[in-house]
Amino acid sequence: MHFVRGMLLAAAALIVTQPAAAQFSPDVPFVPTPQVVVDEMLRLANTGPRDFVVDLGSGDGRIPITAAKKFGARAMGVELDEHLIFQSEESARQAAVEDRVKFLNQDLFKTDISQATVITMYLLPAVNRRLRPRLLELKPGTRIVAHDFDLEDWKPDRKVMIRKNVFLWIVPAKVGGRWRLRYGAPGAEHTIEVELRQRFQEIDGTAKPDGQIPAPLWEAGVQGERISFVIVDGADRDNEASLYFEGRVAGNLMEGEVRRGVGGTQTAARWRAERVGS
Ligand SMILES: C[S@@+](CC[C@H](N)C(=O)[O-])C[C@H]1O[C@@H](n2cnc3c(N)ncnc32)[C@H](O)[C@@H]1O
Repeated sequence: MHFVRGMLLAAAALIVTQPAAAQFSPDVPFVPTPQVVVDEMLRLANTGPRDFVVDLGSGDGRIPITAAKKFGARAMGVELDEHLIFQSEESARQAAVEDRVKFLNQDLFKTDISQATVITMYLLPAVNRRLRPRLLELKPGTRIVAHDFDLEDWKPDRKVMIRKNVFLWIVPAKVGGRWRLRYGAPGAEHTIEVELRQRFQEIDGTAKPDGQIPAPLWEAGVQGERISFVIVDGADRDNEASLYFEGRVAGNLMEGEVRRGVGGTQTAARWRAERVGS
């Protein structure tokens, strides 16, 4: 594994020391991903026919072609090297997927990737670092898979090792800030002021139910546009219970279902929250 990882770094060093030989300036040299690792990247991203897969720096096109051929997805590769683009287009024809795969001969940093539902990449750490702010702006729920090199302190949502380390990140909705949450039947509605702190997909915060002192949020997490957390309802000392909130985030609104208590005593209600501050 370290040998292959070393190959990309060693090839990168060659580019840096021989700039005059290059007709274009790739940020990363061409080193192909082994086919089983391509398969694993796309499997880990749960790729399917509804996906649009974008491979950043697509080399010989193997990732977009596999996404179309084995997973039924639409796919696009972005590649600076014109010869690799020709090779990719020929391979797509041979695999009979040319109607679902396209290749763009351009700089990945100047490419619109906003329509991607899956991003794949085998790039160098410094390139991943430059890309990270753009990846975080993608639609919540977009899956990003990479191998060998990670996104530093943006921890992966999953990591597997099959010959190489393969990482999966799911772009989290932006939920940091202050929210006013309401749940319960009209007329018997409860209001909770919630403050969320967010670092990538990790969140924590506090909840202040009406008439009570602020208390921590427990088991809080955001995955794509899905959010969940627990608030302990301690208003009645003899009847304390956990409130399990699950829902979806859409910009400045969140809504979902809250279950109070457990087992046979559990009750459920709808909840809705609106952002009231950053
Ligand atoms: C390590 S290879 C990976 C190829 C392919 N994605 C794979 O996994 O087999 C990286 C590729 O990125 C391309 N590349 C480097 N910098 C680029 C840039 N700024 N824009 C587009 N492609 C780039 C290189 O030419 C090379 O083919």
